[in-house]
Amino acid sequence: MKGGGAYINIGSSSSSINSSGSGSGSKMTLGKSVKMYLTIFIATTCIYMVLYQYHMSREPFSPSEVGKPPLYIITPTYRRPEQLAELTRLGYTLKHVANLLWLVIEDANKTNPLVAHTLDRIGVPYEYMVAPMPEKYKQTKKAKPRGVSNRNRGLEYLRQHATEGVLYFADDDNTYDISIFEQMRYISKVGMWPVGLVTKTGVSSPIIRNGKLDGYYDGWIGGRKYPVDMAGFAVNIKFLRQRPHAQMPFKPGYEEDGFLRSLAPLDNNEIDLLADECRDILTWHTQTKKNPPAQALNKTRYSNTNLVHIDKLLVRP
Ligand code: UGA
Ligand code: MN
Repeated sequence: MKGGGAYINIGSSSSSINSSGSGSGSKMTLGKSVKMYLTIFIATTCIYMVLYQYHMSREPFSPSEVGKPPLYIITPTYRRPEQLAELTRLGYTLKHVANLLWLVIEDANKTNPLVAHTLDRIGVPYEYMVAPMPEKYKQTKKAKPRGVSNRNRGLEYLRQHATEGVLYFADDDNTYDISIFEQMRYISKVGMWPVGLVTKTGVSSPIIRNGKLDGYYDGWIGGRKYPVDMAGFAVNIKFLRQRPHAQMPFKPGYEEDGFLRSLAPLDNNEIDLLADECRDILTWHTQTKKNPPAQALNKTRYSNTNLVHIDKLLVRP
Protein backbone atom coordinates (compact mmCIF):
# COMPACT_ATOMS: atom_id res chain seq x y z
CA MET A 1 0.00 0.00 0.00
CA LYS A 2 2.17 2.86 -1.17
CA GLY A 3 -0.40 5.51 -0.69
CA GLY A 4 -1.29 4.33 2.80
CA GLY A 5 2.37 4.05 3.63
CA ALA A 6 2.93 7.64 2.62
CA TYR A 7 0.16 8.82 4.99
CA ILE A 8 1.57 6.68 7.76
CA ASN A 9 4.93 8.31 7.36
CA ILE A 10 3.47 11.74 7.76
CA GLY A 11 0.50 11.23 10.02
CA SER A 12 1.08 8.21 12.17
CA SER A 13 3.62 5.83 13.53
CA SER A 14 1.07 3.09 14.16
CA SER A 15 1.60 0.01 12.02
CA SER A 16 -1.77 -1.54 12.93
CA ILE A 17 -3.58 1.17 10.93
CA ASN A 18 -1.37 0.37 7.97
CA SER A 19 -2.13 -3.32 8.13
CA SER A 20 -5.93 -2.91 8.44
CA GLY A 21 -6.49 -2.22 4.75
CA SER A 22 -6.06 0.73 2.43
CA GLY A 23 -9.60 2.28 2.65
CA SER A 24 -10.01 2.70 6.40
CA GLY A 25 -6.26 3.31 6.87
CA SER A 26 -6.16 6.41 4.67
CA LYS A 27 -9.40 7.71 6.28
CA MET A 28 -7.80 7.47 9.72
CA THR A 29 -4.57 9.07 8.58
CA LEU A 30 -6.57 11.75 6.75
CA GLY A 31 -8.37 12.47 10.04
CA LYS A 32 -5.06 12.75 11.85
CA SER A 33 -3.51 15.11 9.33
CA VAL A 34 -6.62 17.30 9.44
CA LYS A 35 -6.16 17.37 13.22
CA MET A 36 -2.53 18.29 12.75
CA TYR A 37 -3.29 21.13 10.33
CA LEU A 38 -6.03 22.35 12.65
CA THR A 39 -3.57 22.36 15.54
CA ILE A 40 -1.04 24.33 13.48
CA PHE A 41 -3.78 26.77 12.42
CA ILE A 42 -5.00 27.33 15.98
CA ALA A 43 -1.47 27.70 17.30
CA THR A 44 -0.60 30.27 14.62
CA THR A 45 -3.80 32.21 15.33
CA CYS A 46 -2.97 32.24 19.03
CA ILE A 47 0.55 33.49 18.36
CA TYR A 48 -0.83 36.28 16.14
CA MET A 49 -3.38 37.25 18.80
CA VAL A 50 -0.70 37.44 21.48
CA LEU A 51 1.53 39.52 19.19
CA TYR A 52 -1.43 41.83 18.36
CA GLN A 53 -2.25 42.29 22.05
CA TYR A 54 1.37 43.12 22.71
CA HIS A 55 1.41 45.60 19.82
CA MET A 56 -1.80 47.26 21.11
CA SER A 57 -0.43 47.46 24.63
CA ARG A 58 2.56 49.35 23.21
CA GLU A 59 0.28 51.89 21.49
CA PRO A 60 -0.17 54.93 23.78
CA PHE A 61 -3.96 55.08 23.39
CA SER A 62 -6.67 52.54 22.54
CA PRO A 63 -8.84 53.15 19.43
CA SER A 64 -11.80 54.13 21.66
CA GLU A 65 -9.69 56.84 23.30
CA VAL A 66 -8.51 58.21 19.97
CA GLY A 67 -12.17 58.55 18.88
CA LYS A 68 -13.01 61.01 21.67
CA PRO A 69 -13.70 64.72 20.91
CA PRO A 70 -10.37 66.46 20.28
CA LEU A 71 -8.78 68.89 22.73
CA TYR A 72 -6.90 71.99 21.62
CA ILE A 73 -4.57 73.27 24.31
CA ILE A 74 -3.29 76.82 23.76
CA THR A 75 -0.12 77.48 25.74
CA PRO A 76 1.50 80.92 25.71
CA THR A 77 5.22 80.83 26.42
CA TYR A 78 8.13 83.26 26.37
CA ARG A 79 11.92 83.25 26.46
CA ARG A 80 13.37 82.98 29.97
CA PRO A 81 15.68 80.62 31.94
CA GLU A 82 12.72 78.51 33.18
CA GLN A 83 11.07 78.10 29.77
CA LEU A 84 12.24 74.60 28.82
CA ALA A 85 11.64 73.27 32.33
CA GLU A 86 8.04 74.58 32.32
CA LEU A 87 7.33 73.17 28.85
CA THR A 88 8.83 69.81 29.79
CA ARG A 89 6.65 69.52 32.90
CA LEU A 90 3.46 70.55 31.12
CA GLY A 91 4.29 68.45 28.05
CA TYR A 92 4.63 65.23 30.00
CA THR A 93 1.30 65.96 31.72
CA LEU A 94 -0.36 66.37 28.32
CA LYS A 95 1.25 63.15 27.13
CA HIS A 96 -1.26 61.25 29.26
CA VAL A 97 -4.15 62.76 27.31
CA ALA A 98 -5.49 61.20 24.08
CA ASN A 99 -6.57 63.06 20.93
CA LEU A 100 -5.00 66.37 21.83
CA LEU A 101 -3.22 69.05 19.81
CA TRP A 102 -0.88 71.30 21.78
CA LEU A 103 -0.61 74.80 20.35
CA VAL A 104 2.56 76.25 21.81
CA ILE A 105 2.74 79.94 20.96
CA GLU A 106 5.76 82.01 21.87
CA ASP A 107 5.77 85.73 22.55
CA ALA A 108 8.68 86.28 20.11
CA ASN A 109 9.47 87.29 16.55
CA LYS A 110 10.99 83.95 15.64
CA THR A 111 10.85 80.38 16.87
CA ASN A 112 13.61 78.97 19.05
CA PRO A 113 15.17 75.64 17.93
CA LEU A 114 15.68 74.69 21.59
CA VAL A 115 11.92 74.90 22.18
CA ALA A 116 11.20 72.90 19.00
CA HIS A 117 13.74 70.28 20.11
CA THR A 118 12.11 70.03 23.55
CA LEU A 119 8.63 69.63 22.01
CA ASP A 120 9.92 66.97 19.58
CA ARG A 121 11.43 65.00 22.41
CA ILE A 122 8.25 65.07 24.53
CA GLY A 123 6.30 63.60 21.62
CA VAL A 124 2.89 65.24 22.15
CA PRO A 125 1.31 66.31 18.81
CA TYR A 126 1.99 70.05 18.59
CA GLU A 127 2.12 73.21 16.50
CA TYR A 128 4.77 75.74 17.45
CA MET A 129 4.03 79.32 16.42
CA VAL A 130 5.06 82.85 17.37
CA ALA A 131 2.93 85.88 18.24
CA PRO A 132 4.87 88.82 19.69
CA MET A 133 3.30 91.18 22.20
CA PRO A 134 2.72 94.52 20.41
CA GLU A 135 5.58 96.96 21.04
CA LYS A 136 3.39 99.56 22.84
CA TYR A 137 2.53 97.04 25.59
CA LYS A 138 6.11 95.80 25.86
CA GLN A 139 7.38 99.33 26.56
CA THR A 140 4.87 100.14 29.31
CA LYS A 141 5.95 100.48 32.94
CA LYS A 142 2.50 99.27 34.04
CA ALA A 143 1.20 95.68 34.07
CA LYS A 144 1.57 93.95 30.72
CA PRO A 145 -1.09 91.87 28.96
CA ARG A 146 0.90 88.63 29.24
CA GLY A 147 0.16 85.86 26.80
CA VAL A 148 -2.67 87.74 25.04
CA SER A 149 -1.22 87.98 21.52
CA ASN A 150 -0.26 84.29 21.87
CA ARG A 151 -3.79 83.22 22.82
CA ASN A 152 -5.39 85.31 20.06
CA ARG A 153 -3.01 83.67 17.57
CA GLY A 154 -4.22 80.31 18.90
CA LEU A 155 -7.87 81.35 18.35
CA GLU A 156 -7.00 82.34 14.78
CA TYR A 157 -5.43 78.91 14.21
CA LEU A 158 -8.54 77.16 15.56
CA ARG A 159 -10.84 79.17 13.30
CA GLN A 160 -8.76 77.98 10.33
CA HIS A 161 -8.19 74.36 11.35
CA ALA A 162 -10.61 73.11 14.01
CA THR A 163 -14.28 72.22 13.59
CA GLU A 164 -15.14 70.35 16.80
CA GLY A 165 -13.85 69.54 20.24
CA VAL A 166 -12.80 71.88 23.03
CA LEU A 167 -10.30 74.70 23.54
CA TYR A 168 -8.41 75.30 26.79
CA PHE A 169 -5.85 77.99 27.68
CA ALA A 170 -3.07 76.27 29.64
CA ASP A 171 -0.35 78.69 30.80
CA ASP A 172 3.06 77.03 30.70
CA ASP A 173 3.69 77.42 34.45
CA ASN A 174 0.48 76.00 35.96
CA THR A 175 -0.30 72.52 37.29
CA TYR A 176 -3.00 70.29 35.84
CA ASP A 177 -4.62 67.03 37.01
CA ILE A 178 -5.22 65.03 33.84
CA SER A 179 -8.78 64.14 34.81
CA ILE A 180 -9.86 67.72 34.03
CA PHE A 181 -8.93 67.10 30.36
CA GLU A 182 -11.25 64.08 30.14
CA GLN A 183 -14.06 66.13 31.70
CA MET A 184 -13.63 69.19 29.48
CA ARG A 185 -13.93 67.19 26.22
CA TYR A 186 -17.72 67.05 26.64
CA ILE A 187 -18.39 70.73 27.41
CA SER A 188 -21.32 71.91 25.28
CA LYS A 189 -20.61 75.67 25.34
CA VAL A 190 -18.45 76.87 28.22
CA GLY A 191 -17.27 74.89 31.23
CA MET A 192 -15.87 76.23 34.51
CA TRP A 193 -14.27 74.80 37.66
CA PRO A 194 -12.18 75.88 40.69
CA VAL A 195 -8.49 76.83 40.47
CA GLY A 196 -6.24 76.46 43.49
CA LEU A 197 -3.60 78.92 44.72
CA VAL A 198 -5.15 82.09 43.31
CA THR A 199 -4.38 85.14 45.50
CA LYS A 200 -4.50 84.97 49.30
CA THR A 201 -8.07 83.73 49.01
CA GLY A 202 -6.45 80.40 48.18
CA VAL A 203 -8.87 79.48 45.42
CA SER A 204 -10.86 81.04 42.61
CA SER A 205 -14.16 79.30 41.96
CA PRO A 206 -17.69 79.59 40.68
CA ILE A 207 -20.13 79.57 43.62
CA ILE A 208 -22.74 76.83 43.35
CA ARG A 209 -25.89 77.23 45.39
CA ASN A 210 -28.75 74.71 45.11
CA GLY A 211 -27.01 73.14 42.14
CA LYS A 212 -26.86 76.44 40.22
CA LEU A 213 -24.11 78.91 39.36
CA ASP A 214 -24.62 81.81 41.77
CA GLY A 215 -21.62 84.13 41.39
CA TYR A 216 -17.88 83.79 41.82
CA TYR A 217 -15.42 83.53 44.68
CA ASP A 218 -12.08 85.27 43.99
CA GLY A 219 -9.68 87.51 45.90
CA TRP A 220 -10.28 90.30 43.43
CA ILE A 221 -13.56 90.96 41.65
CA GLY A 222 -12.63 94.30 39.99
CA GLY A 223 -16.02 94.83 38.37
CA ARG A 224 -15.65 91.67 36.30
CA LYS A 225 -18.68 89.76 35.07
CA TYR A 226 -16.57 86.59 35.04
CA PRO A 227 -13.99 86.85 37.86
CA VAL A 228 -12.30 83.56 36.93
CA ASP A 229 -8.73 82.41 36.42
CA MET A 230 -7.30 81.50 33.01
CA ALA A 231 -6.88 77.88 34.22
CA GLY A 232 -10.54 77.61 35.26
CA PHE A 233 -12.56 77.43 32.04
CA ALA A 234 -12.73 75.81 28.60
CA VAL A 235 -14.81 76.44 25.50
CA ASN A 236 -16.47 74.23 22.89
CA ILE A 237 -15.03 74.79 19.40
CA LYS A 238 -18.39 74.74 17.55
CA PHE A 239 -19.68 77.35 20.01
CA LEU A 240 -16.52 79.44 19.50
CA ARG A 241 -16.95 79.25 15.73
CA GLN A 242 -20.46 80.70 16.10
CA ARG A 243 -18.78 83.77 17.63
CA PRO A 244 -16.31 84.82 14.94
CA HIS A 245 -15.32 88.02 16.76
CA ALA A 246 -14.56 86.45 20.12
CA GLN A 247 -11.05 87.30 21.30
CA MET A 248 -8.97 88.27 24.29
CA PRO A 249 -8.45 91.98 25.12
CA PHE A 250 -4.97 93.46 25.80
CA LYS A 251 -6.19 94.51 29.24
CA PRO A 252 -4.15 93.24 32.20
CA GLY A 253 -6.36 91.59 34.80
CA TYR A 254 -9.36 91.51 32.46
CA GLU A 255 -8.16 88.95 29.88
CA GLU A 256 -10.43 86.12 31.03
CA ASP A 257 -13.41 88.42 31.62
CA GLY A 258 -13.02 90.16 28.25
CA PHE A 259 -12.73 86.87 26.38
CA LEU A 260 -15.71 85.27 28.12
CA ARG A 261 -17.80 88.41 27.58
CA SER A 262 -16.92 88.27 23.87
CA LEU A 263 -18.66 84.86 23.75
CA ALA A 264 -22.07 86.50 24.38
CA PRO A 265 -24.83 85.50 24.24
CA LEU A 266 -24.06 83.00 26.99
CA ASP A 267 -26.53 82.31 29.76
CA ASN A 268 -25.30 81.33 33.23
CA ASN A 269 -27.27 78.07 33.05
CA GLU A 270 -25.42 77.20 29.83
CA ILE A 271 -22.14 76.98 31.76
CA ASP A 272 -21.13 73.39 32.56
CA LEU A 273 -19.80 72.99 36.11
CA LEU A 274 -16.91 70.54 36.13
CA ALA A 275 -14.72 68.98 38.84
CA ASP A 276 -17.59 67.39 40.78
CA GLU A 277 -19.82 70.45 40.34
CA CYS A 278 -16.96 72.68 41.50
CA ARG A 279 -16.34 70.76 44.74
CA ASP A 280 -12.89 69.61 43.69
CA ILE A 281 -9.62 71.30 42.68
CA LEU A 282 -8.02 69.87 39.54
CA THR A 283 -5.99 72.86 38.30
CA TRP A 284 -3.54 75.03 40.19
CA HIS A 285 -2.19 78.49 39.47
CA THR A 286 1.43 77.74 40.34
CA GLN A 287 4.40 80.02 39.83
CA THR A 288 8.01 79.08 39.38
CA LYS A 289 10.72 81.02 41.15
CA LYS A 290 12.43 83.36 38.69
CA ASN A 291 16.04 82.40 38.06
CA PRO A 292 18.82 84.78 37.03
CA PRO A 293 20.16 84.22 33.52
CA ALA A 294 23.10 81.82 33.44
CA GLN A 295 26.47 83.53 33.22
CA ALA A 296 28.58 83.01 30.09
CA LEU A 297 30.69 79.85 30.00
CA ASN A 298 34.46 80.27 30.16
CA LYS A 299 35.19 78.76 26.75
CA THR A 300 38.94 78.79 27.23
CA ARG A 301 38.88 76.83 30.44
CA TYR A 302 36.19 74.39 29.32
CA SER A 303 36.96 73.95 25.63
CA ASN A 304 36.81 70.28 24.58
CA THR A 305 34.44 69.41 27.44
CA ASN A 306 30.73 68.49 27.60
CA LEU A 307 30.04 71.94 29.10
CA VAL A 308 30.36 73.47 25.63
CA HIS A 309 27.38 71.34 24.55
CA ILE A 310 25.30 71.95 27.67
CA ASP A 311 25.86 75.68 27.39
CA LYS A 312 24.02 75.65 24.06
CA LEU A 313 20.94 74.13 25.74
CA LEU A 314 20.40 77.02 28.16
CA VAL A 315 17.76 79.61 27.32
CA ARG A 316 19.13 83.07 27.99
CA PRO A 317 16.79 86.07 27.89
C1 UGA B 1 -2.04 85.55 35.28
C2 UGA B 1 -3.08 84.82 34.42
O1 UGA B 1 -3.18 83.45 34.79
C3 UGA B 1 -2.66 84.91 32.98
O2 UGA B 1 -3.46 84.12 32.19
C4 UGA B 1 -2.73 86.34 32.61
O3 UGA B 1 -2.32 86.48 31.28
C5 UGA B 1 -1.80 87.13 33.53
O4 UGA B 1 -2.03 86.86 34.91
C6 UGA B 1 -2.04 88.58 33.35
O5 UGA B 1 -3.12 89.03 33.75
O6 UGA B 1 -1.17 89.31 32.88
P1 UGA B 1 0.52 85.04 35.77
O7 UGA B 1 0.88 83.74 36.38
O8 UGA B 1 0.50 86.22 36.64
O9 UGA B 1 -0.87 84.87 35.04
O10 UGA B 1 1.37 85.36 34.47
P2 UGA B 1 2.48 84.52 33.74
O11 UGA B 1 2.45 83.11 34.12
O12 UGA B 1 3.75 85.27 33.85
O13 UGA B 1 2.00 84.65 32.21
C7 UGA B 1 0.85 84.02 31.70
C8 UGA B 1 1.19 83.28 30.40
O14 UGA B 1 1.67 84.20 29.43
C9 UGA B 1 2.28 82.22 30.58
O15 UGA B 1 1.95 81.08 29.83
C10 UGA B 1 3.52 82.90 30.06
O16 UGA B 1 4.42 81.99 29.47
C11 UGA B 1 2.98 83.87 29.02
N1 UGA B 1 3.76 85.12 28.92
C12 UGA B 1 4.14 85.80 30.03
C13 UGA B 1 4.08 85.62 27.68
O17 UGA B 1 3.77 84.99 26.65
N2 UGA B 1 4.80 86.77 27.58
C14 UGA B 1 5.20 87.48 28.69
O18 UGA B 1 5.88 88.52 28.53
C15 UGA B 1 4.87 86.97 29.93
MN1 MN C 1 1.62 82.03 35.66
